[in-house]
Amino acid sequence: MNVTIVGTGYVGLVTGACLAELGNNVFCLDLDRNKIDLLNAGGIPIHEPGLEEVLLRNVEEGRLTFSCDVAASVAFADLQFIAVGTPPDEDGSADLKYVLAAARAIGRHMDRFKVIVDKSTVPVGTAQEVAAVVREELAKRGREDIAFSVASNPEFLKEGAAIDDFMRPDRIVLGVDDDEPGQRALALLRELYRPFNRNHERTRVMDVRSAEFTKYAANAMLATRISFMNELANLADRVGADIELVRQGIGSDPRIGYSFLYAGTGYGGSCFPKDVDALCRTAQAHGLPLQVLTAVQRVNQAQKHVLLDKIRAQFGRRLAGRTFAVWGLAFKPGTDDMREAPSRLVIGALLRAGARVRAHDPVAQEQAARVLADDLQDHPELLRNITFVAKPLDAVTGADALVLLTEWKIYKSPNLRAMKDAMRTSLVLDGRNLYEPHAMAQAGFTYLGIGRNNRALLPPQQRVAAEPSAAADALDPAASSL
Ligand code: UDX
Repeated sequence: MNVTIVGTGYVGLVTGACLAELGNNVFCLDLDRNKIDLLNAGGIPIHEPGLEEVLLRNVEEGRLTFSCDVAASVAFADLQFIAVGTPPDEDGSADLKYVLAAARAIGRHMDRFKVIVDKSTVPVGTAQEVAAVVREELAKRGREDIAFSVASNPEFLKEGAAIDDFMRPDRIVLGVDDDEPGQRALALLRELYRPFNRNHERTRVMDVRSAEFTKYAANAMLATRISFMNELANLADRVGADIELVRQGIGSDPRIGYSFLYAGTGYGGSCFPKDVDALCRTAQAHGLPLQVLTAVQRVNQAQKHVLLDKIRAQFGRRLAGRTFAVWGLAFKPGTDDMREAPSRLVIGALLRAGARVRAHDPVAQEQAARVLADDLQDHPELLRNITFVAKPLDAVTGADALVLLTEWKIYKSPNLRAMKDAMRTSLVLDGRNLYEPHAMAQAGFTYLGIGRNNRALLPPQQRVAAEPSAAADALDPAASSL
């Protein structure tokens, strides 16, 4: 089939590359000439494992084209996917200007039936707005005779695993109208996604508004699980329980399940923070504020400070003369994406408190340098106090503490002896619960995870002394020696 994808951002590129890989002819449109030139020269503007290979292969085999030519992109296919950005506007609602501009361009150039598919994450009711804009453009040209339909087909891709998520979807959500153009749209989309439904039917067909809502509901549910576990983890620290054991204990109940229950330094990235905020705004606009989701946001914001609180409990507020090693900058492994990454807040606060930072990340260092320069615009001189290093061990050399913020594979089995010898102290603050507290204690480290200050790790006299309400850090046997 012929398919046009409007927007060569993260979702557009992955969707375009994967649809071409399935044998379709895909035309990717973007108005950013530099991006199109880069893609045509075999370059790739984002980091996503496996994407480059799929892009190159399909360009070479002639199934994938990148262009700035709007008229050609509209003429190319009956299926027009809109996969442009929906950045938050000043009040946190999703800004639809790029989506509506894309719709307008399609309306201006179309001369036969089109299915316009909203792939971008857009608030409930957007398809209706898209349809209104297209209708307006057709009316301007006196071409109200041309039929079209607007469908919703949200994506559920995870950064770092996007190719696999696309090629092996749990579900394909299709929101279509039940009029005649809507049913034509459904037939075309079913045909496009047929390869994924061979063994069993993964398509969920529904009305457009429910499909738009489904995307927000999915992200909101996942974000809720994370904030819920983060709050319980902080309590676990106080009462001397190990949140990881608790996770396994509750996850074994199939009604709960194991995934997305990992405590940490809060969720980040381009989707959860933005989508949760946008859903809260929609609810407010409808006079029904979402109380659970509002708390989810608040807990997540606070969770990004948890490691800083632990650092202050160890060293006090002034950190001049201290050096912190940071392992992991990206908001999660497998990407160089720094959007809403907890590392930004943690590093910014450390630098502002006078500390030095030695940072390592396998792929995000360049992006991190860029966003930190932006974050610290008011104090650019502080950037002199951060050094990006080539190897994890270089970061810990001479450091007062190691702060782990992203669970990259490369950090999973470090040489603990070399690490201990290189560090000035033995304090490890693990924001992703990557290490086993017992093993770290045995290796001589003072280890603070998130919700893992199990009393069993404390010497017996401290176990008695520690009140459930005492600060988590007071449970740490080595805290007073620092
Ligand atoms: C998410 C959704 O998973 C995906 O379906 C949707 O299309 C886009 O948003 P993504 O943002 O790429 O994908 O990353 P994801 O792997 O979901 O992680 C999001 C954040 O939650 C990360 O900051 C991660 O560290 C955090 N997280 C995830 C936790 O803190 N604990 C968990 O148990 C899982």
